[in-house]
Amino acid sequence: MGEYAGLGDVQGKRVLVRSDLNVPLDGTSITDDGRIRASVPTIRTLVDAGARVVVTAHLGRPKGAPEDRYSLAPVAARLGELLGADVAFATDTVGESAKAAVADLADGQVVVLENVRFNAGETSKDAAERGAFADELAALADAFVSDGFGVVHRKQASVYDVAERLPHAMGGLVATEIDVLRRLTVDPERPYVVVLGGSKVSDKLGVIDNLLGKADKLLIGGGMVFTFLKAQGHEVGKSLLEEDQLDVCRAYLARAEESGVQILLPGDIVVDTAFPSGERSPEPRVVPADQIPADALGLDIGPASGADFAAALADARTVFWNGPMGVFETPEFSDGTRAVAEALTGVTTRGGLSVVGGGDSAAAVRALGFDEDAFGHISTGGGASLEYLEGKELPGITVLEDAQS
Ligand code: 3PG
Ligand code: MG
Repeated sequence: MGEYAGLGDVQGKRVLVRSDLNVPLDGTSITDDGRIRASVPTIRTLVDAGARVVVTAHLGRPKGAPEDRYSLAPVAARLGELLGADVAFATDTVGESAKAAVADLADGQVVVLENVRFNAGETSKDAAERGAFADELAALADAFVSDGFGVVHRKQASVYDVAERLPHAMGGLVATEIDVLRRLTVDPERPYVVVLGGSKVSDKLGVIDNLLGKADKLLIGGGMVFTFLKAQGHEVGKSLLEEDQLDVCRAYLARAEESGVQILLPGDIVVDTAFPSGERSPEPRVVPADQIPADALGLDIGPASGADFAAALADARTVFWNGPMGVFETPEFSDGTRAVAEALTGVTTRGGLSVVGGGDSAAAVRALGFDEDAFGHISTGGGASLEYLEGKELPGITVLEDAQS
């Protein structure tokens, strides 16, 4: 007999688990399996409880029809290795293959269904179309466990609508993620420092807006920093720039000043004349942030900035970091990201809470060789954790609370 989080005894029951198995692939080889590993504990718990586990997940953003390069087949194979058990794979999501594979499951066995986004109903904005697809998914199972934290901000059939159709429970991964994020929003231990990077300011507007009232310091790097530098009146050469966000950035800088929140921008930048592409060797140069040459683009924060950021994190008790500081995949432009990651490990050592949020930053710390245990928490959600911190409602969470179970 095996209970799972309010679902009662799941022994012999078909349990549909929505996981986020959206991992980066190079062809068919998985370059960072963090999200698969994070999904294992819930699946293993259900297996141990004797459930017949039906895993549904997406990969990439296919347009509602099958595309080989977005097949979950390599992911299913990796999940099997991590579970140490045979994992079946259905070559469709709710069709003949899926139905047959589910019917074949013995207690404690697992099947992964093909990419749920190969079906137009999954991401449809039309509730009836989504609902019709959710009906088909729900027909495969007796209960639903929502464990794909990275997608709980999406109102999609396998995240939202299916929970209205089956007895449901929050999975262990989602519960853990929400617990940690709550510690960042409800009375965080201070100083509370937020580090933001990544390419686009426009992705981070809501979170900056919200954090200006909550964090003590905001450190900004990555591609988004050039819009801030330009907003301060500096030329940024060929660097990434979102012209339409300049006024917004100016307003944030002014508001930060008024509210006493320190916004720290890098004082030096690593530039090159072209984006690293493999056709030529990188030629990194360090320049002051207010002297980016017209023919150059910024690809990382500079060494002095790395040291400044580390100093700003030295007394932090709570840190949230989303988005790499530079093009960390290229060693010449990885030092800024490494400096921030290193500083976060120091926060953990001193007993503070360090949270790495977002697929890219999580992949970065692993790619740069950091031990995952050196961080308080590595979130599997990028957009989801940002939207939580923005104070937005996450449809995949509210449906678990609202819909009848
Ligand atoms: C992610 O990679 O952030 C999640 O898997 C969600 O993917 P999506 O942004 O394509 O919805
Ligand atoms: Mg995303």
